[in-house]
Parts: sequence; C-alpha cells; structure tokens
Amino acid sequence: MKLPIVAYGDPVLRKKAADISSDYADLDKLIENMFETMYGAHGVGLAAPQIGLSIRLFIIDAIPFAEDDEALKNFKKVFINPQILEESGEKWSFNEGCLSIPDIREDVSRNQNLTITYLDQDWKEHTESYDGLAARVIQHEYDHIEGKLFTDKLSPLRKAMLKNRLDSISKGFVKVDYKMKFPALKKKR
Ligand code: NI
Repeated sequence: MKLPIVAYGDPVLRKKAADISSDYADLDKLIENMFETMYGAHGVGLAAPQIGLSIRLFIIDAIPFAEDDEALKNFKKVFINPQILEESGEKWSFNEGCLSIPDIREDVSRNQNLTITYLDQDWKEHTESYDGLAARVIQHEYDHIEGKLFTDKLSPLRKAMLKNRLDSISKGFVKVDYKMKFPALKKKR
C-alpha cells in the first residue's frame, strides 16, 4: 500500500525520531509499504518521518544511481535504529532532491565517508563504512530521522531565495505525481 508523503513544513519532519523495539507492531508490513511508496515516487530513499512516523527507520534502494557508481548496484537496505559513528573525508557537493520537497534540487556539501551502526530487518546489528554516493544517500536519510532537511545546509542567501517556493509546497501549490500530505493546505469549505 502506498502511503502519502509528508510535505515540507510538517512538524514531524523537524522532530528527532525515537528508536523502536523489536516488538514494534507490523514492522514488516510498514517496511513493505515504505518501499512501495518510495518506488511509486521514484525515490532512492525514504525515512519514516516522511510518512508521518517519528521513528528511527529509513530505507534505501539506490539502483537508479548504479550507472554513476558501480557500488550502488545492490544497495537496497533497511536501516533500523541507526547511529552515524563518524563522518570524515573531504566535503563534496552533489545535487540533492527530496520527496518531501518536490521540484527543488540544490547542491549540498557533505563529507565523503561515514561509519554507521544499525539493525537490519532481521534485527541483526551491522557496523559498516560507506563513501561517495552511498554515503550521500545515507546522510540525507539519516538527517530525516534527526529532524533535518537538505535545505538546512544551504547558504543563507540560497535559503532566502527558496523561501517562497518552500512556503508554496507546504500549502500544496506544487504538482506531484505521488500522494502527499500538505501541512498548510486549507480545507475547502
Ligand atoms: Ni529526503
């Protein structure tokens, strides 16, 4: 089942999300629905706050990036209760977008490398290091569970230039081909 994606401006996108326990109700179904939602919106990652749940869970399937980076060919993963242990390496810029912020793409600067610990869908613990585009996608999704968005990382000037467009997105004045929930959408009488 596809779930509506929460748009920019919704407070759930600004909360630091909480860890979940292994008895979290219907987790497999939730993860399945998140993949369906992400594929339906042609995204490469989706974090639980984006479907309105403030929990530390995100999914990635970076296959669309595989032609740019061979390492992403089999990069389909579920991250539960993740913690980034370290970020290092040179900062580099990449043009990012976000399913919660349709139609806006901006160059965002992030570290090249990271080490992350997380649980997979079978509750097995992993500690892994990533670089390049794989690290980039993880950093973007990880920001979501920390209550951060890629637009936070832009220069004050760039933020000011985008303000009206971001406000419009909150109000639902944007064309998208997937279902969204807009926080500031006025109900018609
Ligand atoms: Ni995003």
